[in-house]
Amino acid sequence: MSSPGLTTLAIETSCDDTCAAVVRDGVILANVISSQPEHDAFGGVVPEVAARSHLQLIEPVVQAALRDAQIAETDIDRVAVTAGPGLSGALLIGLSYAKAFASARGLPLVAVDHLHGHICASFLEPEPVDPPLLSLIASGGHTFLAAVRGHTADDIEVLGRTLDDAAGEAIDKGARMLGLPFPGGAPLQALAEQGDSEAFDLPLAHGVPGLDFSFAGLKTALLYLIRDLGEQEAQVRRADLAASYQRAVVEQLASRVKRAMAETGMTRLAIGGGVAANGPLRARLAELTGDIHVPAPELCTDNAAMIAAAAAHTPVLTGSGVLTAEVYATGERGIA
Ligand code: KG4
Ligand code: ZN
Repeated sequence: MSSPGLTTLAIETSCDDTCAAVVRDGVILANVISSQPEHDAFGGVVPEVAARSHLQLIEPVVQAALRDAQIAETDIDRVAVTAGPGLSGALLIGLSYAKAFASARGLPLVAVDHLHGHICASFLEPEPVDPPLLSLIASGGHTFLAAVRGHTADDIEVLGRTLDDAAGEAIDKGARMLGLPFPGGAPLQALAEQGDSEAFDLPLAHGVPGLDFSFAGLKTALLYLIRDLGEQEAQVRRADLAASYQRAVVEQLASRVKRAMAETGMTRLAIGGGVAANGPLRARLAELTGDIHVPAPELCTDNAAMIAAAAAHTPVLTGSGVLTAEVYATGERGIA
């Protein structure tokens, strides 16, 4: 159950964004996200670089959140932190910081599952939505579909997950093959607008049973398609390739949502993760249900406000629970 009147300082460092937020009763008082551009040159997140950057950024990011929220440290009632899943070195920076912050001030500590956090982003003001609902989370690191029957992690049933790449990962790799910068989602969408999404037939992973996803075959299909077209022709047809590739990702996500709606009878849909920013995906999902909810962009990508939202529905760690080893195990158990 959520605890009314509590002010939560939340910290999220599971990947390449250093995040801190202050949330009171589901109302976001501050939501600071400091992205790390140093990964872009590598075409993906470098774990060691991420951990070092978190170490440098965590204190200024937390101070910025307190400033934005216009509260003093003494106004904080509890600390929430992402325990996992994520990059272990990156997670440990946030966990160690949160643990030290909480224990120095005698505050309770809540260890939050990152994926529970993505789902709970939909519970935040100003447009909170209530379960039961289906939640589709698609980002650079994860892609899964869950039946959300209540607010706690125990109320969430993961119906399907990717068997290989995450949707965002597939988008980034496809975009890279088309010569687009990292992260590739927004540039791919822009290029696709000038192309014909029916120009090429790319696999939709129909062979994957149940509600799981698979994007590895799609990625390979694009690679072979570009090779077969030849460098020059592939360059000329870049926009068609982008549009067809994007359509294949969107159609695969939509087909699982459609099937999940039929199987569960749930028609309310909430989406999250960076890929939720995709215009054609939103439009396609809106064809499946009028009851669709997309949090603001800064709540779809990794952020700490969603960690505070999940903390409201997660037990506080007590006693030896503040030991990092146990906090970390909470993340490893995970919902998905
Ligand atoms: O949740 P997120 O910000 O963080 C990570 O998982 O790291 O998701 C990032 C992913 C990237 O793969 C990015 O290319 C994708 O979200 N993305 C998009 C769009 N904007 C970001 N994918 C498709 N269309 C977009 N407009
Ligand atoms: Zn995430």
